[in-house]
Amino acid sequence: MITKCLFPAAGYGTRFLPATKAIPKEMLPVLTKPLLQYGVEEALSAGCQVMAIVTGRGKRAIEDHFDISYELEQQIRGTSKEHYLDEIRAVMERCTFTYTRQKQMLGLGHAILTGEALIGREESFAVILADDLCDNGEGKTVLHQMVQIHARYPDHCIVAIEEIPRDQTDKYGIVAGEKIEEGLIRVETMVEKPAPDEAPSTLAIIGRYILVPKIFEILARTEAGRGGEIQITDALLELARQGRVLAYRFQGRRFDCGSVEGFVEATNYFYRTRK
Ligand code: G1P
Repeated sequence: MITKCLFPAAGYGTRFLPATKAIPKEMLPVLTKPLLQYGVEEALSAGCQVMAIVTGRGKRAIEDHFDISYELEQQIRGTSKEHYLDEIRAVMERCTFTYTRQKQMLGLGHAILTGEALIGREESFAVILADDLCDNGEGKTVLHQMVQIHARYPDHCIVAIEEIPRDQTDKYGIVAGEKIEEGLIRVETMVEKPAPDEAPSTLAIIGRYILVPKIFEILARTEAGRGGEIQITDALLELARQGRVLAYRFQGRRFDCGSVEGFVEATNYFYRTRK
């Protein structure tokens, strides 16, 4: 059972300036729902009950979003508009939110290590990067699929992957390994954002992970890598060398909402399919 999901949410969202000057990028909405809420709903669908959010300066809107707004409740209660609050109320009832702040932006690995205070070293946990927005229609969500694999490989880390065009390898963590069953690879090597001619494959990690607690100990001694940042990919490589990392080709569709193009694509797609 995976009960906790970590959400690194301290990044600046530079690519969305000026929109992200006073609003966290995780709060940008696709239709009427902030990206982070989609992530939290996915974690709920996978059985998580604790949402552990690593925030930073200027991110208070996130905490307010997952809290009761008494003024709003009072204004809207008993009116025809009350149903607009249904979804967020349902989310808040079903889980607990915990927060810590990442004081310096030293990379995704560092953000995950900062989350140790919320996760502890007792159990495996999930990580969702909210700007990778996934849709599965009526089917099982990506994290739900991964939790089911984790139940069969409990002492393994799992990363979600998808095939990408070779000219984009320098935007992702790239994995290569041996196929052990349909859609599942035992990772032998992984590299953070390799140049297209140096990439060991075109299988890219997307923002869904299940990690074993041992990862914290490894992250604590992982040195800065690509871009001068502490990379989760580098820490995972140590476990991959012991055969303990699986890469899963998920079912569903993923949008890169960290880019304006992906964000617009997601918006159009959700408008067409969810309106
Ligand atoms: C991060 C990870 C990368 C992964 C990507 C998925 O990169 O470092 O390995 O492929 O998320 O979205 P970022 O997009 O934060 O630069």
